[in-house]
Amino acid sequence: TLPEPFAVRLPTVPVLKPVRRDADTDYYELAQKVATAEIIPGTRTAIWGYHGIFPGPTLEARSGRAAEVRVRNELPVPTSMHLHGGVVEPGSDGYPTDLVVPEGYAKRVDASMVRMHARAAGRGNAVHAHQPVPEAPDPGIWTLHEGEKTYKYAFGQRAATLWYHDHRMDFSAPQVWKGLAGSAIVRDAEEEALGLPAGDRELSLMVCDRSFDAEGQFLYPALDPELSDPAGVEPKYMDGVLGDVILVNGAPWPVKHVGTGRYRLRILNASNARPYNLELTGPDGQVPFTMIGSDGGLLPAPQRLESVPMSPGERFDVVVDFSRLSPGDEVVLGNTLGERNTGLVMKFLVDKAVDPGPAVPAVLSAGYEALERGKALQVRQFDFRLAPGDVWTINGQPFDPGALLASARLGTVELWRFTSDFNHPVHTHLAHFQVISRDGRRPGPADAGWKDTVNVTPYGVVEVLVRFTGFRGKYMLHCHNLEHEDMAMMANFTVV
Ligand code: C2O
Ligand code: CU
Repeated sequence: TLPEPFAVRLPTVPVLKPVRRDADTDYYELAQKVATAEIIPGTRTAIWGYHGIFPGPTLEARSGRAAEVRVRNELPVPTSMHLHGGVVEPGSDGYPTDLVVPEGYAKRVDASMVRMHARAAGRGNAVHAHQPVPEAPDPGIWTLHEGEKTYKYAFGQRAATLWYHDHRMDFSAPQVWKGLAGSAIVRDAEEEALGLPAGDRELSLMVCDRSFDAEGQFLYPALDPELSDPAGVEPKYMDGVLGDVILVNGAPWPVKHVGTGRYRLRILNASNARPYNLELTGPDGQVPFTMIGSDGGLLPAPQRLESVPMSPGERFDVVVDFSRLSPGDEVVLGNTLGERNTGLVMKFLVDKAVDPGPAVPAVLSAGYEALERGKALQVRQFDFRLAPGDVWTINGQPFDPGALLASARLGTVELWRFTSDFNHPVHTHLAHFQVISRDGRRPGPADAGWKDTVNVTPYGVVEVLVRFTGFRGKYMLHCHNLEHEDMAMMANFTVV
């Protein structure tokens, strides 16, 4: 029995505490555990959680200070942790075949390894019962860390809202659905000097949809709950799995008590496949958002958004102003792309008069560099499309860990053109980009800023300027509809 909307308080997600610090690095330990969570009041739902909680604890970082996170895998399945939006060395990027396996698992060959071999042998994407099973994982494809792995995050990047989640080959979607996702925040001095709403007026909102069975357990309809065989996604769910309950910070349609002030909302779409168009409605109608940042941190200047269109993987950093409201007023965060229950996200209940706090400054990031088309050293096209045989592909290919679609030079900018036959939220690891055109026109305000994820609409064309900074090595781009990702809609690029 699900609660009524707006009956559960918005949970505050704990911040992960370092176990140790030295002059330039913070050290963390994070165990991935089987646990339960009270998502529906009075019910324990089985989860797989970082630290045993869902969402996982927030990783707070300071630009210029590195972090090392020792991740222990106490789950029955392999995992790979990816810091989404992080400028991270290749060995710590959470590559899908770079796995932390449970103790004793290293010699086993599981369904995704079988499928990868089948794909490499040119037998396409499906797993059939009678495929020959290789004896051991091919070391050219798979890296298996038994029990634990230390991920090194340089955090040389500017302040931004990031997140971390599972990225296991063929199983990202069900494993994230079971709870393997958390927020990360990078802070820096530039942002702190702005006087943006902080403390209890800065809220991280991880939005995702889930379904529940009659016992209140997560229902992931596209796959056997044991995540054994077959790997991937059943054809019926190939467009992506949608839930009918909207969770914010792991609570269904929560309520947050606020004062009559300005609030900063770091909104993350952590859903597998659901897009949102968020709108705020108060007693006198729509309440606009002041967008201050995107996936990759602050915009040069704030801009007004009537609604926030958000595809899976994207973040929007916005300030909302409740100062014209009075105690007792309610403001509903709704989703115009949803219907009935999925049209509601959460509610803000104004319960006290407070000092509204300073207005958002007119300049947010004086050093923001807008990239120009003429700077691009290369133009490349990546076509996201369903190929015959119901295979999601990039440039006609399902993921092959040995293949490279592009090789870019460190420190340069390239123009990448994403084309598509469907809604595909395209995500690049390592390299952030700026959107310069959408369907032949100037992009709208929601595309502003440094981004790492951009939705390409059916038969749409999005041009971005990508800057390769930080590290050399092998990285990937992929569709962030997690079911598409698990159906191998991923590709490699290198930075040299
Ligand atoms: Cu958020 Cu490669 O993913
Ligand atoms: Cu897709």
